[in-house]
Amino acid sequence: MSKRIPVIAGNWKMNKTSTEAKQYVSELSGMVAGKQGVEIVLCPPATSLAAVSEMLGGSDIIVAAQNMHFENSGAYTGEISPAMLKDIGVTDVILGHSERRQYFCERDEDLEKKAVAAIEAGLRPILCVGETDAEREAGETEEKLRRQISTDLSGITAEQLPGIIIAYEPIWAIGTGKTATPQIAQEACSFIRGLLAELFGEEAAAAVRILYGGSVKPGNIGELMAEQDIDGALVGGACLSAADFAQIVDFQ
Ligand code: PGA
Repeated sequence: MSKRIPVIAGNWKMNKTSTEAKQYVSELSGMVAGKQGVEIVLCPPATSLAAVSEMLGGSDIIVAAQNMHFENSGAYTGEISPAMLKDIGVTDVILGHSERRQYFCERDEDLEKKAVAAIEAGLRPILCVGETDAEREAGETEEKLRRQISTDLSGITAEQLPGIIIAYEPIWAIGTGKTATPQIAQEACSFIRGLLAELFGEEAAAAVRILYGGSVKPGNIGELMAEQDIDGALVGGACLSAADFAQIVDFQ
C-alpha cells in the first residue's frame, strides 16, 4: 500500500568515456521511452555529466553526480561544487558511497556538511549507508546504520527529509555478486525507516524512498522490490549495459 514512487538509479562509478556515455544514453532512452511509475536516475562520472544532462534535458530521466564538495567554490583542487552541478542541469547527487568512504576517507562529519549543501543548492541527495561483513558478523549492523544516519542527516529538518533518498548498501554485497537476501535487505531498510521516524517523525519517514544496493541484477530486482520498505535500487555493475539496466527498470 506504499504510495512511494520507486527509484531505479544506475551508478556507473569510474566507467565509460564521454563518447561511450552518449552511446549508452541514446540506447537506453529508446528502451525506457514512455516508462511510467518509476524514476530513472543515471549517475555518470563527472566528465560525462554535462553531455548526459544536455541529452536528457526535457526527458524524465534524472541525472545525478557521484560526489560533490560542500563549498560552492574555493581552493579545493579536483573537486566539484553544488553550484557547478546545478549549472549543468544535474538535479541529484550520490553522497557517502562506501567506495568514497573507504578509498577517499569521506567521514560522516563531511557528509553532514554535504547533505546540507546539497539541499541548500536544490540538489537531491542519495545518501548511501551500510555495514561491512565484519560489522554484520559482530552484530553491529544497526549500530553502524544509526551512527551514519544520525550524523549524516543531523543538519536536515523533518520538512527536508522526504527530499532525500537513502540507499542501504551492505558493503559485503557491493560488486561481489553476493546480493543480500530480500529478507536481510528488508530488515535493514525497515530498521532505517524506524530510525528516521524516531529522528524526524513518522510522517516524514513514511515518505522517504529507501533503496537497496549491492549486486542488483535483472534476475533479483523483482523479489527485492516486493519487500515493503524497499523502494528501489542503486545498481552498479549491472547498469553498465543499457539492456540490463532497462530490464531492471522494468521490474514490475
Ligand atoms: P554493484 O554496486 O551493483 O556493482 O554491487 C552497487 C553500488 O555500489 O552502488
